[in-house]
Amino acid sequence: MPYKHVKIAGTGSYLPDRVVTNDDLAVKLDTNDEWIFSHTGIRQRRIADDSQSPVDMAFEASQKALAEAGMEPDELGMILLSTCTGDYNYLPSSACLLQHRLGANNAGAFDLLAACSGFVYCLEMARCWAVCNQKPVLIVANEMLSRITDWESRETCILFGDGAAAVILTPSRENGLLYSYLGADGENSRLLYVDGGSRLARGREPIAPSYVQMQGRTTFSIAVRALEQVVLKILKDNKLQIEDIAHIIPHQANMRILETLAKRLNIPIERLHANIDRVANTSSASIPILLDELKEQGKLKPNDLILTVAFGGGLTYGGNLIRWQPES
Ligand code: UT7
Repeated sequence: MPYKHVKIAGTGSYLPDRVVTNDDLAVKLDTNDEWIFSHTGIRQRRIADDSQSPVDMAFEASQKALAEAGMEPDELGMILLSTCTGDYNYLPSSACLLQHRLGANNAGAFDLLAACSGFVYCLEMARCWAVCNQKPVLIVANEMLSRITDWESRETCILFGDGAAAVILTPSRENGLLYSYLGADGENSRLLYVDGGSRLARGREPIAPSYVQMQGRTTFSIAVRALEQVVLKILKDNKLQIEDIAHIIPHQANMRILETLAKRLNIPIERLHANIDRVANTSSASIPILLDELKEQGKLKPNDLILTVAFGGGLTYGGNLIRWQPES
């Protein structure tokens, strides 16, 4: 009998060694630790070395997840990689580069672009593929935002950090991914974007550096509403109360967004896991990095319900209801 469900069989993450503090940024920019921390909750971020490429980080995280799952790369049926910062802008996909580096000789591979919501999108896409094909999927969220950040813009460069995380999803008798909700709001696509691309004929496009552009205030208020809506929908559709959820793992965009979300949900801020002070906003890698940290700290127990919730460029939003190490 084919398995109807999936479960997480391994996780791994990778953060670059280099730590850049708010004080380090204040040396070159008109900013300071007090402003950055009070407006964002960020104290420091990890920034990749000049010699590293994004796929280098994906490789490190993937090897850890594979080792934990006790799996060889050639057992994988698919590699699904979420990124806004591919090693190449268009071709080839980072997933294909990773497939080769790992020696995942029996796997298909493709990239998925849903910005900060990329991991929650990948989990659901991987679930569908793994159940249909009865083979394991490697999901990697891999973001080197330092490469698309304007380091002279104090409005954006203080926000982001680099990092990667990987999850192995395997077909399973027990249900380890109970539900996902995915949404998009393309009407607001210009609130958060990186210029360049093929929408204009060659020569018609103004030559501008490809940096993240964001309307922070408006993005903030839409983010809070979207995150709240996702949490409430997941609870309602699964007939759950917030107290039934052992761990809420939100995308780490801004601590003030999380504080406002907690108020709206009428829960103490401590119910929302956070590591933004140490790693800043790592886009789609933020949820799986935090998931991996919680696992390493021994905080996740078998059968715990985990709710993920994300919001990002696109605009995109969504969340998952995960059962950790489900027991029948
Ligand atoms: O990852 C998913 C999507 N991203 C988000 O969800 C991010 C959402 N937005 C935010 O997190 C916040 O809007 C920011 C942290 C980006 C900005 O915080 P804010 O409280 O909305 O500040 P602001 O942009 O309205 O700027 C307020 C003031 C301005 O000065 P004036 O015009 O009032 O004189 C800015 O120039 O703060 C100034 N400012 C800074 N000052 C010191 C902006 N950035 C800095 C800075 N240091 N780094």
